[in-house]
Amino acid sequence: MSNINIKLPSLKDAKKRTKTPITIHRDSYDISESLKNLGVNRKYYLRTYGCQANERDSETISGILNEMNFIKTDNYEDADLLIFNTCAIRANAENKVFGEIGQLKRLKVKNPDLIFAVCGCMVQEEVVVEKIMKTYDQIDLVFGTHNIHRLPLLLQNTMLSKERTIEVFSKEGEVIENLPVNRFNDYKAWVNIMYGCDKFCTYCIVPYTRGKQRSRLIQDIIEEVNELKEKGYKEITLLGQNVNAYGKDLDMEDGFALLLEEVAKTKIDRIRFATSHPRDFSIKMIEVMKDNKNIMPFLHLPVQSGNNEILKLMGRGYTVEHFKMLYDKLKESIPNIAFSTDMIVGFPNETREQFEDTLKLVDYCKFDFAFLFIYSPRVGTPAAKMEDNIDESEKSKRLKELNERVAKYGNINNQKYLNKIVKVLVDGKSKKNDQVYSGYSEENKLINFTGTNINEGDIVDVYITEIRSWSMNGKKVN
Ligand code: SAH
Ligand code: SF4
Ligand code: F3S
Repeated sequence: MSNINIKLPSLKDAKKRTKTPITIHRDSYDISESLKNLGVNRKYYLRTYGCQANERDSETISGILNEMNFIKTDNYEDADLLIFNTCAIRANAENKVFGEIGQLKRLKVKNPDLIFAVCGCMVQEEVVVEKIMKTYDQIDLVFGTHNIHRLPLLLQNTMLSKERTIEVFSKEGEVIENLPVNRFNDYKAWVNIMYGCDKFCTYCIVPYTRGKQRSRLIQDIIEEVNELKEKGYKEITLLGQNVNAYGKDLDMEDGFALLLEEVAKTKIDRIRFATSHPRDFSIKMIEVMKDNKNIMPFLHLPVQSGNNEILKLMGRGYTVEHFKMLYDKLKESIPNIAFSTDMIVGFPNETREQFEDTLKLVDYCKFDFAFLFIYSPRVGTPAAKMEDNIDESEKSKRLKELNERVAKYGNINNQKYLNKIVKVLVDGKSKKNDQVYSGYSEENKLINFTGTNINEGDIVDVYITEIRSWSMNGKKVN
């Protein structure tokens, strides 16, 4: 296959931050009739890896493909178009994608007209695109995180030219409102409030794959939330890599607290947000959470490490003492608040003592849940230049130890719900047992329960009868 339509990424360009103001496009997004015909009698299969930003991007990709008359299928064997929306956060996330691309090569043999596309954060890295070009002949189309809106044209190019198309922009795009969206859930929705990230934590690839921070305007966000509410949505999650920095690029002071207050006024039942950064988390934010009952008493606040030297090497911009101060104030103001966090073990040069500081922080904060990761060097980031000098077995040992410590508190924290009633937004029936329903409480606890007259999307009262570390069982109260 010759490569005639090629625009390659560059992490070096992606790193640049300019003061050029971002234009917000509000014109309607039109797809021409000829492009709309491309999908007639064709099916697409879309697989999403990574975080909620990617989930939400996939809803846009799906919305565009639906407008082009493609039909969604959950069976890749049937598909005429395969799209993998990928994640670059750790090496194992990437290896998984390459493994699956390898496996699906056989589909091309069965159907030579099949178009196989890869998009998302991975292809913002030149090493990945080079590898695809060299080794993965089965890939026909590569596009990045900044040009999803160009999908119809890129598909046309690939289908008509029968040549491989690669178009990845390293410089962030403008904010484009009005892109089509096919939401994958009828009562819980993701709402982007900002794109990109300017924090440049030393281990993290996201500021390179997602570009500089661009906030959407408050009125656009509120309009979207109101529309969702009118359609019957019960819960929204405001999305950004660092939501507490919302509005900084629009010269707003404490923009996220302000935005959250406005969103609360829409009276939508449940408001969540992800992800918060301890550095930008303001005291005003705590007040807004406390004063608005439709803001859920749950906070995902990634700490990464319980040791100040490691936090400094990570470039996180806060200390353990600052994190504990926020934690204490939140607990004091919102006594029923539940917490989750992210932590990394085995950062370069992390000593046993420094790791033990992370265990101590877990003892202090007693998180309800934590996502734990082994440090993974990402080419192009400052940490990747530090020596990755802790051996794999030691990293795994630390991960296991931390996991056990977190699990202990998961269970202890849940005990307080025994014989109490919690409010659950019903997700549906359990996969294992169709007599059992599941959903999440306001505190983001997974609840499995029985009862009658239960519908997906209802908010019901559930009496808790049994506690587990990561879930609870109960009965619906009639
Ligand atoms: N914007 C969010 C996190 C996005 S990435 C925040 O700042 O909290 C999700 C998590 O992946 C991070 O919190 C971190 O714990 C982990 N992570 C990111 N880069 C990593 C790397 N190179 N190795 C291991 N874990 C990493
Ligand atoms: Fe990555 Fe840090 Fe930005 Fe989170 S805040 S996305 S960890 S650079
Ligand atoms: Fe992964 Fe990109 Fe999200 S790297 S975690 S999909 S922003």
